[in-house]
Amino acid sequence: MRTLYYYCAPEVSAARRDEFAQLMVAAEQAVAALAEQSAAAAWQLQALEDYDGLLTATKRRLKGKSYEGVALADQDVLLELTGDLPGVGLRLGALSHFKPLVIDFEQVAVRQRLLRGGRQKEAVARAVMAGLPDGALVFDATAGLGRESMILAHVGAQVLAFERQLPIWCILHDGLLRAARSRYYPFAVPTLHALGTIKDYHSSARPEVIYYDPMFPERAGTAQVKKDMHLFQEVIGADGDNEEFVCAALGLATKRVVVKRPDYAPPLAYPGISVSYSVDGGQCRFDCYQVTP
Ligand SMILES: C[S@@+](CC[C@H](N)C(=O)[O-])C[C@H]1O[C@@H](n2cnc3c(N)ncnc32)[C@H](O)[C@@H]1O
Repeated sequence: MRTLYYYCAPEVSAARRDEFAQLMVAAEQAVAALAEQSAAAAWQLQALEDYDGLLTATKRRLKGKSYEGVALADQDVLLELTGDLPGVGLRLGALSHFKPLVIDFEQVAVRQRLLRGGRQKEAVARAVMAGLPDGALVFDATAGLGRESMILAHVGAQVLAFERQLPIWCILHDGLLRAARSRYYPFAVPTLHALGTIKDYHSSARPEVIYYDPMFPERAGTAQVKKDMHLFQEVIGADGDNEEFVCAALGLATKRVVVKRPDYAPPLAYPGISVSYSVDGGQCRFDCYQVTP
């Protein structure tokens, strides 16, 4: 079992402290609800008092030195809200010397990328939104850092986003909360479903399109990715269970399922399922599977 420690610094405003406390309550509830079914929910949550002590002990542990008190194990994580960060930050024990990963849609580079693309410019928007009216219900089955969810919301989709890894779900929850009140995003930002997958969706409203972008194993010899992406990949690992989710998506969507693949990877193909057409995304490809009525 992995431990998720959480800490909110005293200098943080009362309103943000409350939001952080509510987030942790929601995380506890989600873990309790999913614990029976999902290995991804095998987390124990632990409030942290001595933030500096934990980081010092972890640093010493990583250097093979003796330490006192609690240290993060390699796969443990720390969620922190401090005055230095724009939002809730995530550290992984094995990479605790990295800057915490924060989902910050207000960062200049992030918002420029999000806001410059329209339906035609962004390949993901072309693949997912083709023929759909504004307000169409789209599921992002693999929300991750939420960038493509936000692109789809910006081009008019009503996005319901799913994420099954608790630490990522927590920082995305916080990122979307802040995006929803940002002046840069005067449209309906994606809604994050409770922790889990599209199989945990039990409402009768069906999405027109489901977008699926699982983690793909790195190719040997690939250039080193940026630090924050490296941290993200190390927290998640690989997603090796694609078939069951593509099949579930095809049973739920009314129009199509769109799967993102690296340009060098073959399409996902299972008995009875084949790609109808693809949209070129440069270094990746969006394989579209039409739903047969
Ligand atoms: C490659 S990332 C997605 C990146 C995302 N498209 C973005 O724009 O930031 C894949 C994410 O989907 C999550 N994931 C993978 N399979 C999932 C599933 N079946 N249900 C929910 N989340 C899933 C992983 O935990 C990871 O955070």
